Amino acid sequence: MRLTNLLSLTSLVALAVAVPDFYQKREAVSSKEAALLRREATECVSNENVLVEAPKSNIWTSLSKDEVQEVLDLLHSTYNITEVTKSDFFSNYVLWIETLKPNKTEALTYLDEDGDLPPRNARTVVYFGEGEEGYFEELKVGPLPVSDETTIEPLSYYNTNGKSKLPFDVGHLDRIKSAAKSAFLNENLNTTTMRTVLEDLIGVPYEDMGCHSAAPQLHDPATGAVVDYGTCNINTENDAENLVPTGFFFKFDMTGRDVSQWKMLEYIYNNKVYNSAEELYEATKKDDFVRLPKIDIDNLDWTVIPRNDSAPIRHLDDRKSPRLIEPEGRRWAYDADEEYFSWMDWGFYTSWSRDTGISFFDITFKGERIVYELSLQELIAEYGSDDPFNQHTFYSDISYGVGNRFSLVPGFDCPSTAGYFTTDTFEYDEFYNRTLSYCVFENQEDYSLLRHTGASYSAVTQNPTLNIRFISTIGNYDYNFLYKFFLDGTLEVSVRAAGYIQAGYWNPETSAPYGLKIHDVLSGSFHDHVLNYKVDLDVGGTKNRATQYVMKDVDVEYPWAPGKVYNTKQIAREVFENEDFNGINWPENGQGILLIESAEETNSFGNPRAYNIMPGAGGVHRIVKNSRSGPETQNWARSNLFLTKHKDTELRSSTALNTNALYDPPVNFNAFLDNESLDGEDIVAWVNLGLHHLPNSNDLPNTIFSTAHASFMLTPFNYFDSENSRDTTQQVYYTYDDETEESSWEFYGNDWSSCGVEVAEPNFEEYVYGRGTRINKKMTNSDEVY
Ligand SMILES: *[C@@H]1O[C@H](CO)[C@@H](O)[C@H](O)[C@H]1NC(C)=O
Ligand SMILES: *[C@@H]1O[C@H](CO)[C@@H](O)[C@H](O)[C@H]1NC(C)=O
Ligand SMILES: *[C@@H]1O[C@H](CO)[C@@H](O)[C@H](O)[C@H]1NC(C)=O
Ligand SMILES: *[C@@H]1O[C@H](CO)[C@@H](O)[C@H](O)[C@H]1NC(C)=O
Ligand SMILES: *[C@@H]1O[C@H](CO)[C@@H](O)[C@H](O)[C@H]1NC(C)=O
Ligand SMILES: *[C@@H]1O[C@H](CO)[C@@H](O)[C@H](O)[C@H]1NC(C)=O
Repeated sequence: MRLTNLLSLTSLVALAVAVPDFYQKREAVSSKEAALLRREATECVSNENVLVEAPKSNIWTSLSKDEVQEVLDLLHSTYNITEVTKSDFFSNYVLWIETLKPNKTEALTYLDEDGDLPPRNARTVVYFGEGEEGYFEELKVGPLPVSDETTIEPLSYYNTNGKSKLPFDVGHLDRIKSAAKSAFLNENLNTTTMRTVLEDLIGVPYEDMGCHSAAPQLHDPATGAVVDYGTCNINTENDAENLVPTGFFFKFDMTGRDVSQWKMLEYIYNNKVYNSAEELYEATKKDDFVRLPKIDIDNLDWTVIPRNDSAPIRHLDDRKSPRLIEPEGRRWAYDADEEYFSWMDWGFYTSWSRDTGISFFDITFKGERIVYELSLQELIAEYGSDDPFNQHTFYSDISYGVGNRFSLVPGFDCPSTAGYFTTDTFEYDEFYNRTLSYCVFENQEDYSLLRHTGASYSAVTQNPTLNIRFISTIGNYDYNFLYKFFLDGTLEVSVRAAGYIQAGYWNPETSAPYGLKIHDVLSGSFHDHVLNYKVDLDVGGTKNRATQYVMKDVDVEYPWAPGKVYNTKQIAREVFENEDFNGINWPENGQGILLIESAEETNSFGNPRAYNIMPGAGGVHRIVKNSRSGPETQNWARSNLFLTKHKDTELRSSTALNTNALYDPPVNFNAFLDNESLDGEDIVAWVNLGLHHLPNSNDLPNTIFSTAHASFMLTPFNYFDSENSRDTTQQVYYTYDDETEESSWEFYGNDWSSCGVEVAEPNFEEYVYGRGTRINKKMTNSDEVY
């Protein structure tokens, strides 16, 4: 991980401060002393890196290029591995290599009991095509560095089906299979007959269309057959294919490794099924054939995003919008080697993966661990439609990768004060060293954290927060992930979505129940987004209890008012004794508070120290309960959240290999829910966020981040004896003396003097936008992720 400085005026003075001990060693400071601690603000010190030393090594960090190379060499010397670019279904090749993170048991021994550094291991997924049956296999390679002790072993301990292997037909749609499928479709659609039909029905030549198929592939366990549905979209100059569907669909069989046996099964147009190209062609010749309206491709202005230069400038929009500044320099610090960050008594490690992007480990506040692990697990997008393509679309996005995407755009995706970090991933023989992968910045929220006006005073505390953001563009959608730390010990997790909707063709007869007509022949296909986060809270240690305060209305007759019944409300504490197969849904009308409590510690008033998992916007779950496209693959999405007892074997709720293994996925989340006791145990919450997205004209040309937003918070609840931001100096206390009529302002050392900070444009020239920094999609090899 490397920090990239973006401002040309940046001064690169690194202040090394031993922050981990800072909290313990800190002594009481008066407001005057606080003022003296401040540097004299005569010089601008924007974007200055502040370094700290992490308390421990980061045991979760990505593999280095050297480690990856060692693993790759060992795989090559053990198996007959072929380069991916030269591979087919009958060769062996390597898909991914990444860190196999240590088990929590081991990690805690290292972190808390001065135990040994856990051994470093790699996890790799290799496709073996040489034998009778092709299969994908997960392997553990370790310990690293490679030595005589290093072994390669099947890896399945976290797979609920107990298998390390995944047969070809239910396996990952990797680059090889994807290319074979595209070639097959092209071969079958680029025929004289089909070219004629497509041009007739859609109105553009075949070359101006892109034909593709739905995810997942549909494997039928009874027959072994694998079929899929597909459609064609019209190519546009601005990546807006998703807004230009054609209403033409097809179904094909892609069973097995012998591509010559793959076949087109059906062509579907206007809800009618034709069993061959000829049958469809003959039908179009008949008088009664109904042609649906065509998209007006000569007028696609409504699909483009850049500023409409024919439009007048809004009043005052010729001025720059506000910018964030750090008048006395950065207030967050990091350890580059250990990917450790600290800010205002918070500390945490980060790690990065191809599948899920950033994860957080050992999140501490004021010297105590609050969260052992906070990590995105999976994102699904599930469509409901009258058309066979959207109806079969059920994306499990980690299969495409969330952490193997594009670079942030400085000054726009994150404020100009942000620091940017480079991440490493390995995929298909390539080591990707991507700059501008995530950003870190302190924000000043637009509302104060606390305030009160009293008889003779007014007190207001500012609301600075530490923010970590990354954005992942997966096909048509851009997911914006944010982790926000507050001064009082609260942490907010949120996600926003922008980009192009995957729209459907508007069939006037059948589309209405599945979405709104949002353009001439366009249905804003209705879909669910659901994302799952693993939230492994450790509240006062790992012996925890899950409870809720339920709020209900009751009738009470009080001793002080005999004979009168009051309809009032009460709270009742309920304990979640065991894992519940049905999970938990947020209570109606917010009448419940969900807590993860310490089973051992209370605050001074006898309340268990706890953290509240608090829903924000978008606490949703899947609407569909019995999908054909995802019968068993994403069972974590059935309810708003689930609680389980922590187990090293229950590592994650989904895997990148789940998608096409419809009935027997490597990880079936349902298997986690076996009624184990949660009382006094280490509890993991699997929290879902999402959006039931009914696209409307405000989604054109793009969905916007402001409204496509979901979040939850983890916030102290009787964790301390009182709210814990009172030590910050970022506040003002105003007093007024009635008698003397004098006002005084206490700023705790923070006055309004300024060093005259200049906000510079990010130095875009510094970047060679290519392999390492990738802000657009098609800059490099077209085989890369899309
Ligand atoms: C190794 O794999 C390649 C590609 O599949 C194949 O052509 C070759 O025969 C294999 N070599 C051995 C020794 O099996
Ligand atoms: C982690 O725990 C699982 C389940 O107990 C075990 O199979 C696996 O070997 C452990 N991993 C390591 C690296 O010790
Ligand atoms: C389709 O076929 C025609 C005629 O064989 C060929 O010239 C053209 O390149 C093909 N198009 C694609 C996209 O393969
Ligand atoms: C661009 O702005 C012009 C002038 O306001 C307006 O007539 C036109 O509809 C706009 N174009 C789009 C695509 O919104
Ligand atoms: C990754 O990129 C950074 C600069 O962007 C460079 O300093 C570093 O050496 C690269 N690391 C690897 C392993 O290629
Ligand atoms: C779950 O376990 C509890 C005891 O811990 C038992 O009383 C209950 O019947 C079990 N429920 C199910 C559905 O097995």
